[in-house]
Amino acid sequence: MNKFSRIGFILAAAGSAVGLGNIWKFPYITGEFGGGAFVLVYLLCILLIGLSVFIAESFIGQYAESNVSSAFVKTSSKKNPLWKYAGFMVFSGLIILAFYSVVLGWILHYVVSSFSSLPSEASIAGASFAALTKDINTQIFYHTLISVTVIYIVLKGIKEGIEKVNLILMPLLALILFGLLLYALSLDSFSKAMGFMFVPDFSKINADALLAALGQAFFTLSLGIGTILTYSAALPKGSNFIKSSLYVAIIDTSIALISGLIIFTFLFEAGAPSAAGPGLVFISLPVIFSSWGILGQVIAISFFMALVFAGITSAVSMIEPALMFFIERFKMTRRSATVLCGAIFYILGIIALLSMSDEYGSLLSFSGKNAFDWMDFITSSVMMPLAAILTCVFLGYFVDKKLLQTSFEKHTSVLVFNIWYMLVKYLVPLAITILLINKLGLIS
Ligand code: PFF
Repeated sequence: MNKFSRIGFILAAAGSAVGLGNIWKFPYITGEFGGGAFVLVYLLCILLIGLSVFIAESFIGQYAESNVSSAFVKTSSKKNPLWKYAGFMVFSGLIILAFYSVVLGWILHYVVSSFSSLPSEASIAGASFAALTKDINTQIFYHTLISVTVIYIVLKGIKEGIEKVNLILMPLLALILFGLLLYALSLDSFSKAMGFMFVPDFSKINADALLAALGQAFFTLSLGIGTILTYSAALPKGSNFIKSSLYVAIIDTSIALISGLIIFTFLFEAGAPSAAGPGLVFISLPVIFSSWGILGQVIAISFFMALVFAGITSAVSMIEPALMFFIERFKMTRRSATVLCGAIFYILGIIALLSMSDEYGSLLSFSGKNAFDWMDFITSSVMMPLAAILTCVFLGYFVDKKLLQTSFEKHTSVLVFNIWYMLVKYLVPLAITILLINKLGLIS
């Protein structure tokens, strides 16, 4: 099998983790839940729950060195063939990629339009964002561009495609964010942003905030669709998967925090509200950039480019588990598996974007949700949590503990292993089950 180098793995897994989730979603939910206390809960979710599942997926991948479906069978203590059904999770990646590509298309459109002009008022910005989400032709154009780029990269394989792209885009992303952070540091509102993000006010925390933090911890670390498992299958034998997991979690968390600091500094500087929801990046920020003249335009272009780079490295990681599955299970060539998976997510993306339009909206909506929202709901509220629960229950109850112990103790202490094992066996499945029940609306 085509393998990563160790540093290539860390970059690619960090590239997968760092995406729209960090730069777009984390700041807006932090804003909605009032800042510091939410950030603290989020950090705990990453450390106790996200990191445990990340290490779990990474262990299975590195041990079995195969696609998700056969990796579960190979790792299970009795090689039980029923575990092959755990492979269902690879399809989540294709569904997420469908709407993620549409959103990345919007951002690419923002890069292009930032060259000519930026909206000067929130009402204009809001109207043009709403118009974009209903404009079929523009969205198809950008969704196609993003899809072709993703397909082109994955066609080249792990080493020549995914590793190389991460090697270029991740440093570029870091450079842009560093530049934006320096600029934010020079503004008066930076200290206010620090206070907002790091001084907790626990009166703002409720059950919704806890669940949002937990869901975000999963999404941002790319868990529950087999990406980390599949990437880890391409780790060189004997690599320290625990250390790599820790590095990826640290990089991912730092980028989310830095993005938050940059965005809140900009918002406070302009006196704009911090709880603007999903429109924060698409509506509030462009108006602020516009008030800064030419400098604002340069910042807008850099910011949206950073989002595109972060998103592309995540997008390629969403398709890889399904590719590996089709290649190994059905003996397909990489080319035909890519064409098949590419066609699936591209068509689903078209359905998602049509479902937001006035023309096809009612045709493509069911039970009060359009197809775009359904794809988001089914993956992040059902399939991903289910896959994460399954992974933990699998390791806690259906894999030989001795095997885990020997694999872990090569790289870490007995104490760390015991803590991880307890978390994976008891706390994590319980926490995610509560999340799942809540998302399904079974309790409120
Ligand atoms: N972690 C990515 C983000 O924060 O944007 C999203 C993601 C990538 C989710 C890959 C799932 C995945 F497999």
